[in-house]
Amino acid sequence: MSESNRLRIAIQKSGRLSKESQKLLKSCGVKFNVNEQRLIAHSDNMPIDLLRVRDDDIPGLVMDGVVDLGIIGENVLEEEQIERQTLDKPSECIKLRQLDFGACRLSLAVPTEFPYQDAGSLEGLRIATSYPNLLRRYMQEKGINYRDCMLKGSVEVAPRAGLADGICDLVSTGATLEANGLYETEVIYRSMACIIQSTHEQSDAKQALIDKLLSRINGVVRAKE
Ligand code: PRP
Ligand code: ZN
Ligand code: MG
Repeated sequence: MSESNRLRIAIQKSGRLSKESQKLLKSCGVKFNVNEQRLIAHSDNMPIDLLRVRDDDIPGLVMDGVVDLGIIGENVLEEEQIERQTLDKPSECIKLRQLDFGACRLSLAVPTEFPYQDAGSLEGLRIATSYPNLLRRYMQEKGINYRDCMLKGSVEVAPRAGLADGICDLVSTGATLEANGLYETEVIYRSMACIIQSTHEQSDAKQALIDKLLSRINGVVRAKE
């Protein structure tokens, strides 16, 4: 793969962060058009390429230096960092700043009829999650043993389907939990979107562009406060 002179930024293709990520870059003066069929969107006024990928892939792309910047939820970043540390894979990146969107929390939730007192009520039970590392860290701190049920999606239906006793999933409005007869019992991680940079060395020109972009992002975020 050849080193590109263009700055590569990974953003979520579709999901909670995608529209806001595009909006942020546009308000920083980066002009581009997204073609839903295309992975890459080239900016016409700046040497910037946007890579539109699955959110879960963004931290790894930045940590491996495949892209220069990424816009991602802190929850996904932290999960990937712990995962890579366990596997002895590169897990470094620079968090340039927290952004003002993508607020959510990673929470434990159980069916409404579950007699929940505290996290200890989950001792020995099975918990469905897409965030096994954040869940493990929390449960280890509390000294609670549990069993994993790893699901990349549809986590909220696991208890009703008899796959798990409770779940550990992202909550934003709480509508998904309610629709599935679940209630939130503990918040284990609070998250916002953030922008991260690869620790791989950049050319002076690319670093200057990153600095310019970051100062514009600071201006845009501050103006909204
Ligand atoms: C999360 C979570 C729920 C939903 C909760 O998925 O898995 O499905 O959001 O939001 P609510 O409390 O407003 O109902 P999300 O789409 O953020 O992430 P994913 O696509 O990466 O699973
Ligand atoms: Zn995801
Ligand atoms: Mg989801």
